[in-house]
Amino acid sequence: MTVAQEPTTSPATASVSHPLEPLTPEEIKAAVSIVKTEKALTDSFRFATVTLKEPEKQTVLSFRLGDPIARAVFMILLDNATATTYEAVVSLNERRLVAWDAIPGVQPPIMLDEFVACEAAVKACPEFQRAIAKRGITNPDLVMVDPWSAGHYGIADEVGVRLSRALCWVKANPTDNGYAHPIEGVIPVVDLNKMEVIRVEDYGVVPLPPEDGNYIPEYVKNYRQDLKPLEIVQPDGPSYAVDGHEISWQKWKVRVGFTPREGLVLYDVTYTDNGEDRPIFYRASLAEMTVPYGDPQPNHYRKNAFDVGEYGIGSLANSLKLGCDCLGVIHYFDAFITDSRGEVAQIENAVCLHEEDFGILWKHMDWRTEQTEVRRSRRLVISFIATVGNYEYGFYWYFYQDGTIQYEVKLTGMVSTGAVMPGEVPKYGTLVAPQLNAPIHQHIFNVRLDMNIDGANNSVYEVDIVPEDDEHNPYGNAFYAQSTLLPTEKAAQRLIDPMKGRYWKVVNPAKTNAMGYPTAYKLMPGENTLPLARPSASVINRATYMTQHLWVTPYSADENYPAGDYPNQHPGGAGLPQWTAADRSVEDTDIVVWYTFAHSHSPRAEDWPVMPVATIGFMLKPLNFFDENPANDVPPSVSKHSCCG
Ligand code: CU
Repeated sequence: MTVAQEPTTSPATASVSHPLEPLTPEEIKAAVSIVKTEKALTDSFRFATVTLKEPEKQTVLSFRLGDPIARAVFMILLDNATATTYEAVVSLNERRLVAWDAIPGVQPPIMLDEFVACEAAVKACPEFQRAIAKRGITNPDLVMVDPWSAGHYGIADEVGVRLSRALCWVKANPTDNGYAHPIEGVIPVVDLNKMEVIRVEDYGVVPLPPEDGNYIPEYVKNYRQDLKPLEIVQPDGPSYAVDGHEISWQKWKVRVGFTPREGLVLYDVTYTDNGEDRPIFYRASLAEMTVPYGDPQPNHYRKNAFDVGEYGIGSLANSLKLGCDCLGVIHYFDAFITDSRGEVAQIENAVCLHEEDFGILWKHMDWRTEQTEVRRSRRLVISFIATVGNYEYGFYWYFYQDGTIQYEVKLTGMVSTGAVMPGEVPKYGTLVAPQLNAPIHQHIFNVRLDMNIDGANNSVYEVDIVPEDDEHNPYGNAFYAQSTLLPTEKAAQRLIDPMKGRYWKVVNPAKTNAMGYPTAYKLMPGENTLPLARPSASVINRATYMTQHLWVTPYSADENYPAGDYPNQHPGGAGLPQWTAADRSVEDTDIVVWYTFAHSHSPRAEDWPVMPVATIGFMLKPLNFFDENPANDVPPSVSKHSCCG
């Protein structure tokens, strides 16, 4: 991340062509300046979030090019001096603060510059230096301090204190992978408002694991020699077009946005069918994720990172590199966020847009005529990658020519590590090197889908493939797809059932295809499990969204995050469990679908020293949305390098 140059233009709402265009650097700068001036903010204020305040959905959907655009900025601020959190809204058109509220009893997400300050505070703490000296570590400069969120464990002297319960590793030298050498049993607890260590927990000496675990070129001496170049060539350029942040690609239209909390956001996704842009969803984003660890040891039992709500996964996005992260003809979108002092920070190449060949789309050979028709599948990829301490997450949306949408998370990076005694075989983890334990854990994601199938009013059905009962089943062979309406929020809290081929369909009850079926998209689960923490565990109460794979709520502009607006150190109960207690109707109305999916990660030796990508996600497939295969019109491939060209 780099701090951007001084903007050269001053009008706060200049050059924005659509209400959902992300904030420009000029707009961010103007909004921060307005708040600082109007509230006479001192240096003790930090800007945790500065993002577009999205206009009302109706305003956006009825927007026509040239209409006036109201631009507003939503901010979360933290006053370190008084430990108070504020929410602010600035109108850029009116150039003034239009809302300013103290929000009691909450903690904003941990900010990137708090990472740096927290590490410095820990290293400077004499009690910490004594603790590491007991373990033979004499140079604190080589220590890595990861500011893990502290969660909520009902401990009296932690309530109301902005906490990190930091975990520490040590490098053998400045370029060494420190995660090979965890400092087990030493946990500095830091007050992030005062930026001072309030205690150093010490659970006894565990020796540092002896082996290094490195993966960068200076350590990998024997690269395999048999790789020949594989070039992706698009001689006539890509098939997509980009206008601001609106993408069109064949029959798809998608608008991209980017928030510091969620990262990539997709808006107003449509597919053109017989000349009509048919809406599928209005807004989609990764709304929360939680990574609960299964090891009850002191270093590990409080590891439950909420990487969206506690850290702001967008603010941790990488600057992507052509030829490495993405291949082909790429369009990159930069992201503009702020550092905690409100200075504009630019993440260059934060979002990658490109096309990929994806094998065959469809094929048939008429064996009588021997005529073969085959079409290659191409998909549009919109993605970003974030680094959260030790882990990398790549978030990928794929759009296919047959109307399918896929969401995929790629998990890679470094497993979180701990040390065990020589000879000890850990029950709650795997040895990935001698004395180096990678504790078992889960990565649980929740994607919020503001559905818009052929219009705002939709309903959700659960579909199971079931055998016919004996009375209607003379030959025993009969089975069928049984649809059950999920009419209310409580009825719509559901789990996967792979043995029944269960999926959920989001239908527009007022629209039908040529055969008379209501137009629909089906949500098809991929890999999934349930959280394995007991119901009594703190994390279950704080991330109750994890306990159901499907949730459906009526649309409400202020219901955006399934574990609540402020999950950091929150005692629990916020978000989906709170809203759905009212059991509102979700039938034939403007609905939001929330899908939870969990990857249970029992580490392997092969995940060390750097973990090959693991993937998890789901699909949205058209279900009687069209009258026939919408990809019937994809032409045969023309390639200079193929026989059918
Ligand atoms: Cu993992």
